[in-house]
Amino acid sequence: MIDGKPKIVLTRRWPEVVEARMAELGEVVLNESDEPLSEQELEAALATADVVCPTVTDALPAALFQGEIRAGLLANFGVGYNHIDVAAAQDAGVQISNTPGVLTEATAEIALTLLLMSARRAGEGERHVREGAWTGWRPTHMLSTQVTGKTLGIVGMGRIGTHFARQAHHGLGMRIVYHSRSAVAAEVASELGAERLDLDELLESADFVSLHCPATPETRHLIDAEALTRMQEHAHLINTARGDIVDEAALVAALREGVIAGAGLDVYAAEPELTAGLAELSQVVLLPHMGSGTIETREAMGMCAFENVAAFLAGRSLPNPVNQE
Ligand code: 8YV
Repeated sequence: MIDGKPKIVLTRRWPEVVEARMAELGEVVLNESDEPLSEQELEAALATADVVCPTVTDALPAALFQGEIRAGLLANFGVGYNHIDVAAAQDAGVQISNTPGVLTEATAEIALTLLLMSARRAGEGERHVREGAWTGWRPTHMLSTQVTGKTLGIVGMGRIGTHFARQAHHGLGMRIVYHSRSAVAAEVASELGAERLDLDELLESADFVSLHCPATPETRHLIDAEALTRMQEHAHLINTARGDIVDEAALVAALREGVIAGAGLDVYAAEPELTAGLAELSQVVLLPHMGSGTIETREAMGMCAFENVAAFLAGRSLPNPVNQE
């Protein structure tokens, strides 16, 4: 049991409404500057707080769990937890929770945005207008690729992948193929007419490939030079999952050489740094990791973390535990 008022560290600023709710649970330490905490600051947080609430910008490797640990819970603000060494945390007696479910719609919306922007050259067109380069309508100006009725290949048919497939199938009449560890429920497969393929078949047959799998050692560089070569020349790659699922240097080369037509990215291997050459490519749409970035969703993520902290402090089991696979 925790003696006195529990100490809760939020590593970044959260929507005010959830910061206020968190303050009901204990003494909340805010990161007023909202700059990512240093390794030393994270180490100090683990040693002095009962609960630490990190985000994707906080690297928590095994080394950080070797020292003195007071924290009993890492309540991650986000569903992805590849920035945390889960095994090392658990060995050090630290439980972990995340925020699944509440960011499904928002992240699928950004995948759809990227798909449409990439296919229809919307980023390029917007820059063209702003730069004053537009000389007026003509029949052959900035021609792009129609999306309606094309084939969407979803890699990772979890909550977000399935929701995006629904939007694309029902909204744009897209044919859905997917690659996933497990098959979707029969009623979902029939609702979407979704066909499960192995990765190579998916890459070879999809007009658009969208990544929705978690970042794990197995999915690191899943989309490498060879995978990109399997994709069709007119195909586009969409990534709203994690940057290191894609070999970004290979992606830059594939785009330069016309191996694939375009890409829409919301996530990067070394955020906020971009792989050399990426920003110079006009056929790439680049967003700043904003998949879950709606007011509604960020508040819901905060409230989900709050529920996990509340459960932990009350000695109840966590609503959203993360365990070593
Ligand atoms: C979050 C995300 O904003 O939840 C995730 O896994 O990728 C984002 O939508 C970010 O990770 C916050 O930690």
